[in-house]
Amino acid sequence: MSRLKIEGPCKLEGEVQVHGAKNSTLPLLAASLLCDGECVLHNCPQLSDVEITIQILRHLGCQVKREGSTVVVDSSQIQNWDIPDQLMREMRSSIVFLGAILARMKQAKLSFPGGCELGPRPIDLHLAALKKLGVQIRENHGCLYCSAKHGLWGKSIGLSFPSVGATENIMLAAVLAKGTTIITNAACEPEICDLANFLNAAGGDVKGAGSSTIVIQGVERLHGCEHRVIPDRIAAATLLAAAAITGSNILLREIEPAHLEPILPVFEEAGCQLSIQGRELSIVSPGRLNPVKSVRTMPYPGFPTDAQAPVMAMTCMADGTSVFVENIFESRYKHVGELVRLGARIKVEGRVAVVEGVKHLSGAEVQAADLRGGAALVVAGLAAEGVTQVQNVRYIDRGYESLEHTLTSLGARITRIN
Ligand code: EPZ
Repeated sequence: MSRLKIEGPCKLEGEVQVHGAKNSTLPLLAASLLCDGECVLHNCPQLSDVEITIQILRHLGCQVKREGSTVVVDSSQIQNWDIPDQLMREMRSSIVFLGAILARMKQAKLSFPGGCELGPRPIDLHLAALKKLGVQIRENHGCLYCSAKHGLWGKSIGLSFPSVGATENIMLAAVLAKGTTIITNAACEPEICDLANFLNAAGGDVKGAGSSTIVIQGVERLHGCEHRVIPDRIAAATLLAAAAITGSNILLREIEPAHLEPILPVFEEAGCQLSIQGRELSIVSPGRLNPVKSVRTMPYPGFPTDAQAPVMAMTCMADGTSVFVENIFESRYKHVGELVRLGARIKVEGRVAVVEGVKHLSGAEVQAADLRGGAALVVAGLAAEGVTQVQNVRYIDRGYESLEHTLTSLGARITRIN
């Protein structure tokens, strides 16, 4: 089991490129199943979740090759329609393949995605929507057996919650369906727009992505296309939190300013100076941060739940009390106990976490329990006095492209110990 050894406190300086968005790359790779030609995806990050997704594509019969950050997928010879249990368990978000496999093969078999570190991860919205599109679903021994013998038919679907994954699954199932599908209360995240742009580039007809009503006109076929994945807004937020807590000035290259709009006001409230030139963002930290009165996670364009943990880590040494309300997932505070081991003062009551800023954090052995919580421990470790060892780095590798190399290039003293 690998761990990251961090010697703090340290200052960061210099510039770094933000990698492509994990949460865009995964549905885009699923979407490539629908194209009857070669798809070329640029700016795909080197992440374990992306590698698992590529394994699933190969299992289904796709030819997939990676050249640096470019992934080329040829889906002309698909012969399978199941996702192996092991791969489903390793990555819960494999559920997004369901809509794509059904659209292509008219049948699918996959095991129920296990719960994950953030609590139960229900898929009721996904299944209810697919049934409306004409899918028969049988659940047996933990497996879902899905079939659409009469094909998929467009329908109006209202989501009771703007679920990102359910919105993506409906888009992937509807883009080749007969007729028109209207999704109301759709997720508005940038990754939804990225997926719509890809599908339209491949010959699809998807309108309204980025708003809460998406209209998909089914088409006969999708051809291959070339697409560049959007930058990862959560990786950007994590690097900003690292700079903020260490009193540093750094420059992020390859960001999409609009995607960071829900996040940047929190850094300004903490006292950081931010300036954006084109696709570059520089941050100057004041050293001791102001507290952040209230961070409520919400669906986009609200504050993203994925940035909650890294930003909470940043506030642990602020000059005052910050309050977080986690409205999206029911158990997304597993990093709190570990931050307390580093000397943070945090109280959790249900969905509310109250962070009373302290003057110092001190290095300790801590354990990552999920992707963003693990990143939060690294952020805090950079500012803690002494050595911090973050265990279970595999969680961090799911969503950050060699985080230790990125931080080392900015001057951090951080090494991976296998
Ligand atoms: C996506 O997960 C992201 N993952 C998550 O990022 C992100 O936190 C989440 O969206 C919210 O932005 C990927 O894109 C691969 P949801 P997803 O469906 O699609 C409930 C990370 O760290 N729900 O919008 O699973 C669900 O329980 C990951 O990069 C249902 O009740 O999120 C949760 O409380 C973590 N029934 C809420 O909705 C359903 O059928 C949000 O889930 C589906 C979801």
